[in-house]
Amino acid sequence: MCGIVGYVGPRAATEVVVGGLQRLEYRGYDSAGIAIYDPEQGLQLRRSVGKLSNLVQRLGQQPAIGHVGMGHTRWATHGNVTEENAHPHRDASGRVVVIQNGIVENYLELKSRLLEMGYHFQSQTDTEVIAHLVGHYYREEQALEPALRRALAELRGGNAVVAFCVDEPERLIVARLGNAGGVVIGTAPGETFVASDVPAILDYTREMVFLEDRELAVITRTGVTISTLSGAPVTRTPVNVPWDPVAAAKGDYKHFMQKEIHEQPRALMDILRGRIDQEAGQVQLEDLTLDDRALRRVERIYVTACGTAWHAGLMAKFMIESLARVRVEVDYASEFRYRGPILGDDALLLAITQSGETVDTLAAMEEARAQGVPSVAIVNAIGSQAARLADGGPIYLHAGPEIGVASTKAFTSMLAAAYLFALRLGQARGTLKPAQIREHLQAMVELPGKAATVIEQSLPICAELAERYHRASDALFLGRQANYPIALEGALKLKEISYIHAEGYPAGEMKHGPIALIDEDLPVVCIAPRDAIYEKMISNIEQVRARHGQVIAIGTTGDTLLATKADHVIEVPATLPLLQPILTVIPLQIFAYDMALRRGCDVDQPRNLAKSVTVE
Ligand code: G6P
Repeated sequence: MCGIVGYVGPRAATEVVVGGLQRLEYRGYDSAGIAIYDPEQGLQLRRSVGKLSNLVQRLGQQPAIGHVGMGHTRWATHGNVTEENAHPHRDASGRVVVIQNGIVENYLELKSRLLEMGYHFQSQTDTEVIAHLVGHYYREEQALEPALRRALAELRGGNAVVAFCVDEPERLIVARLGNAGGVVIGTAPGETFVASDVPAILDYTREMVFLEDRELAVITRTGVTISTLSGAPVTRTPVNVPWDPVAAAKGDYKHFMQKEIHEQPRALMDILRGRIDQEAGQVQLEDLTLDDRALRRVERIYVTACGTAWHAGLMAKFMIESLARVRVEVDYASEFRYRGPILGDDALLLAITQSGETVDTLAAMEEARAQGVPSVAIVNAIGSQAARLADGGPIYLHAGPEIGVASTKAFTSMLAAAYLFALRLGQARGTLKPAQIREHLQAMVELPGKAATVIEQSLPICAELAERYHRASDALFLGRQANYPIALEGALKLKEISYIHAEGYPAGEMKHGPIALIDEDLPVVCIAPRDAIYEKMISNIEQVRARHGQVIAIGTTGDTLLATKADHVIEVPATLPLLQPILTVIPLQIFAYDMALRRGCDVDQPRNLAKSVTVE
């Protein structure tokens, strides 16, 4: 939440910083601001409420010139959405500027101390406290680095902070406390970049270092010097991030979400690359450090995640229990960390996260570490905190950057990754013979083509459905077994981007409440592929019809019976039962997208949401 960008080098800093913020806007879009320094112009602060486009407009009228600077896109935590509360924030002298991603938990206490000392505040934010503290210590230290260190020593909470002082105009200093904000530093000859996330700086470099908790980095044109907050030097070799800058651009698509929906066939192919041996019937997960012996010792898996990733976690339970016969519990990460879980020696934690930064998911991983339990992370963002915290290794999605706030390709890739992990586990534990694994892999290899078919077939139907139902105030999504998490995901997609109230329910539970909502205006999306529970699902559809609900069914290609039961049918090709959700969810993504579009909603940046939730 909140995006930060900084730059030192020969380029026009405003261009680099604003360009970077554009790539990070999914992290918050309540307000945006930049601070750019030039020896002649001095420190130029420009801030605007609302989307980044407002700031860009402002910069058109009042340009900011210089070769060093920082910028911020805000997801409001403390203080309303106003220009005063937009970052960057200055100290009392106006010579120090600061941006922050995260929360200063003890800011009230620090603020009252600063007020007593005679400082005046311009905003209601917790970040301004950092600016004043740094400024305060600067007067004593006459150097930014020790001043920032002293200020950071007083903060509680998790944050990423970038600071600049006009008296040291060749450098930015960035620090990270806790897990609330990722910091990536990009290096190139004669210039250095800093950002919350990789896509912001991909246009300039792929050589990146990631800052760990309680580290501080001094950034100049010639590179970066990292140390711990207590001052011990840190040597870190940059990693090469293999993402293509084009992958982080919208291209010919109208929205990132649309682009990412269409990227799913490719992502489903990429996730298999180099990982499967169809002939031998084997799965190899290159970064998994747990060997067969370690995998055989696992008797219980705790899956933990948030949002869409949690829905993938529900699916992972089906997959792991069925293929590897290991008991699985699934928790919301935000609940897991506070329920005092008793994990045990034979446990493994499986974290699922697109960004690798979600603060609750990271806290759950830390809880596992504290109990001596290894963790594995299914994660998309290369080098992210979750990938580094996973002592059992990350399983990368290799889905490329996902920018649309509503997750699509990362979700289907998470399902595929969980399936691969379940197969790998089954292989190690002997619950699956090579011939069986071969069969599963064959089905996985066929998925990209089938996903492409689903997209093609769903597009015209979803456009018609949106035309017809976009004025609905509510919607119900029903599924059973493996398609129950998909009902949840379909409802989440619809509500988060179209603001239609939607609920996902296990179809069998419908009679215990939601049935009361059904009338002729309620679209009821029923996920009813031809699986073991198909007939039960048909009975549930009959119950909806009897109350005159509008049935939109997702069914298996060629299902003539379903066609007689539903008002609308979207067909998906058949595959193995636990892979079927990868296909059944795609029409629901397209449906949500079309509904939101038809209602004039901002699909990529739905109100109040942010893609990386780095605060509790
Ligand atoms: C936010 C996003 C969701 C995402 C969730 C978890 O709520 O809007 O799309 O599923 O965070 O994010 P993660 O990066 O951990 O998968």
